[in-house]
Amino acid sequence: MEYAAFLGHLPAISIAELSAAIEDFSLNQIIDDRIAIFETSQDLDQEFLDTLGGTVIIAQRITDADVALDDIPKIIYNEVQSKRGKVTFSLRAINVPKPMVRSLYRRCKIKFKESGRGCRYVGNEKKPAATVVLHENDLIDGKDGCELTIIAIQEENGRTLWVGRTIAAQDIDWYSYRDMEKPVRDTTIGLLPPKLAQIMLNLGEWLIRETKNEKPETSKRKTQELLTIFDPFCGTGVIPMETLLREWNVIASDLSVKAVNGCKKNIEWIRKEEKILKKDATSEIYKHDATKDFDFKELPDVVVTETSLGPPMSSRPTLKEASKLKTQNEKLQAAFLENASKTLPGIPIVCAWPVWRQKGGWIHLDKIWKVIEKLGYKAVLPTEVKPELPNRFSIFYRRKDQFVGREIVLLIPPKVEEPEEK
Ligand SMILES: C[S@@+](CC[C@H](N)C(=O)[O-])C[C@H]1O[C@@H](n2cnc3c(N)ncnc32)[C@H](O)[C@@H]1O
Repeated sequence: MEYAAFLGHLPAISIAELSAAIEDFSLNQIIDDRIAIFETSQDLDQEFLDTLGGTVIIAQRITDADVALDDIPKIIYNEVQSKRGKVTFSLRAINVPKPMVRSLYRRCKIKFKESGRGCRYVGNEKKPAATVVLHENDLIDGKDGCELTIIAIQEENGRTLWVGRTIAAQDIDWYSYRDMEKPVRDTTIGLLPPKLAQIMLNLGEWLIRETKNEKPETSKRKTQELLTIFDPFCGTGVIPMETLLREWNVIASDLSVKAVNGCKKNIEWIRKEEKILKKDATSEIYKHDATKDFDFKELPDVVVTETSLGPPMSSRPTLKEASKLKTQNEKLQAAFLENASKTLPGIPIVCAWPVWRQKGGWIHLDKIWKVIEKLGYKAVLPTEVKPELPNRFSIFYRRKDQFVGREIVLLIPPKVEEPEEK
């Protein structure tokens, strides 16, 4: 099946997530750096999109061969033929000139009218319908109608029209609600966006399979397994909250009692909001210094964590300030990884490190790569993802308005020697 994914504001990270979350993800092309056309044998749906942080909309291709714009009214009519009563429809046209989109809306309306069906539409040639409008009008679940995604793709031998049905759209309100309405928000430690936490969890799930070197067939079953995620720098708990929303177990710790208490409150809140029972997904939150021995009877499946980013910044740090923060941070990261290699043997790690904005670019951690090598960890990236900087296996997450960005690193641990049988 072929799909089109409308990517978030950082396409590279969105592709990394899709590639990690879809076992047989095969990227066909990227259009305008914002839409990925890909194939998979999996049936993707709204429930799947709800677990992704980096994709805004998914459409599934409904026409095999190339079609013309003239065919659109008939295609949309056929899509909703079995629905009774008045139909609502919408068009999401990419790289189609606006007057043509306006004419398409009109011709679709005429087609419904001629066939004796009442109809209305949302969106227009200037702006396609917002995702919230698609949900409000029941266009995703198909109850009241549907939206067609139409992408004009310029190819060597001419233009192809890709036509699909929009099958999933991000629930923006729910993201804002869980981000803004949770009881404890601590802006002094930097707030991880829930979408980035989701992306990191998807990368973590992939990394577990990669560490075990599992084949896709077996991993398909494994992905439905109950995982246990460990966040040793949990702060007020965005990663733990998103973990529970996946109905996975979470263990969270932090050096600061204030953070631990905040995380506990937020976890209680999300449990109540979403009725996540302890019998379905457990949570354990406690104070612990991530550079000191972890003491697990049963090891977690993966560490997913946003390590300390240092102080929040309202302006660009000077080179001296950034260099000082970098030196401090390198020490913390090294101490944590040394501890993890000792007391979390065989456990893969997804972690976010800070990067600091400078005039002509960004300052990144350096010495930590030597530590990674010494400890035997291996940095990897999902297929279809090319490192942004040569020889640096990581993905950057940074926003124009921020002075501290994040670098996401995926570490496969060294193999743990099996004890010899006597
Ligand atoms: C960037 S914040 C994490 C924010 C978190 N992702 C959230 O959603 O709120 C980093 C956290 O690391 C904690 N921290 C710093 N040094 C630590 C250490 N040695 N061990 C454990 N936690 C530490 C800080 O207290 C802070 O809460």
